[in-house]
Amino acid sequence: MRRLLVTGGAGFIGSNFVRMVLSEHPDCLVVNLDKLTYAGNLENLTEFMSHKNHRFVHGDICDGPLVTRLLDEYRIEAIVNFAAESHVDRSITGPKIFIDSNVGGTLTLLEAARDMKVERFLQVSTDEVYGSLGSEGMFTERTPLSPNSPYSASKASADHFVQAFGRTWGLPYNITRCSNNYGPYQFPEKLIPLMIHNAIHDKELPVYGDGLYVRDWLYVYDHCTAIWCVLRNAPPGEVYNIGGCNEKPNLEVIRLILRHVGKPETLIRHVKDRPGHDRRYAIDASKIMRELGWKPSVTFEEGIAKTIDWYLANDQWLAHVVSGDYQNYYRTMYANR
Ligand code: NAD
Ligand code: TYD
Repeated sequence: MRRLLVTGGAGFIGSNFVRMVLSEHPDCLVVNLDKLTYAGNLENLTEFMSHKNHRFVHGDICDGPLVTRLLDEYRIEAIVNFAAESHVDRSITGPKIFIDSNVGGTLTLLEAARDMKVERFLQVSTDEVYGSLGSEGMFTERTPLSPNSPYSASKASADHFVQAFGRTWGLPYNITRCSNNYGPYQFPEKLIPLMIHNAIHDKELPVYGDGLYVRDWLYVYDHCTAIWCVLRNAPPGEVYNIGGCNEKPNLEVIRLILRHVGKPETLIRHVKDRPGHDRRYAIDASKIMRELGWKPSVTFEEGIAKTIDWYLANDQWLAHVVSGDYQNYYRTMYANR
């Protein structure tokens, strides 16, 4: 499949995916549909904006006529749907937009894909749809969906719609459910870039609750290669977990960042916990490894070192992102913690 509609391609993972496809697969055309919300940033793709195989379209995945026109005009073979509101804390302060973009937007794409007979619909989902784990066990593709946050509830709902379109209208789909990503171009509302940014600027590092919440980290490039692998090789109707077996408590990640940038642990400040905070995520990715031969390219230690060095080297990118609205966001989100 060479003619792709990538949605949310100006965000963190989407822009890494667009960069990978344009750099490594010169036979592919990427039509990149993005609404440019606070999280969408064309500076993530500066050197690719005039690439001959890249067409950027500023628009909303909820706009059915626009989506249908793009599928028709570019004879799109596959849709890769990254577009979403993606931050749990924002979903707690304002869940409505999560229904609009994550559920309504996905439904709009599904209807257009069905009507235009798109050959594959790849829904980029998350391990958070499975809910929270205790100290034992891992999520497999057969774990029942049990989302806890408005964000994960909206992503689980979208997954159900994708599967319903497969069952009801025979839409050829795949769903990927990946663990927490980190790497270049991540918006500094998420744990790792927020802590890197604060540490560089000698600001306090706000650790929710006891800091012993566990996330299973994957370097963003490895998520992108996994999606590519599914797009190229997976049979329709299959769901794949994606992860690299890198479970870490938040405090361990934060201490590692502080050591890497040479800042003291006294910057750590325990703050009020997130309501409904999922204790632990851990993903069993043996299906995609066994059936499609995918594996991650870097260890967590290599990936996090590359990531911190990238943020240090790209201080202009970070400075632009945290100017303006970000300051208001930070003040409001962290004021009462
Ligand atoms: P992000 O917030 O960095 O980027 C989201 C992008 O989608 C932005 O460019 C935004 O402008 C765009 N967008 C939002 N609503 C839109 C709409 N209605 N129409 C068009 N574009 C819209 O998110 P991310 O971290 O890159 O996540 C991308 C996808 O991967 C999401 O679907 C998310 O649920 C999923 N995911 C993320 C992670 C993670 O750790 N970040 C892990 C697993 C899965
Ligand atoms: P986050 O990056 O928001 O991803 P998610 O909630 O989708 O897993 O948060 C990762 C973990 O870090 C989560 O346990 C919440 C915690 N966290 C903090 O302790 N402080 C913070 O300022 C942020 C943003 C997150």
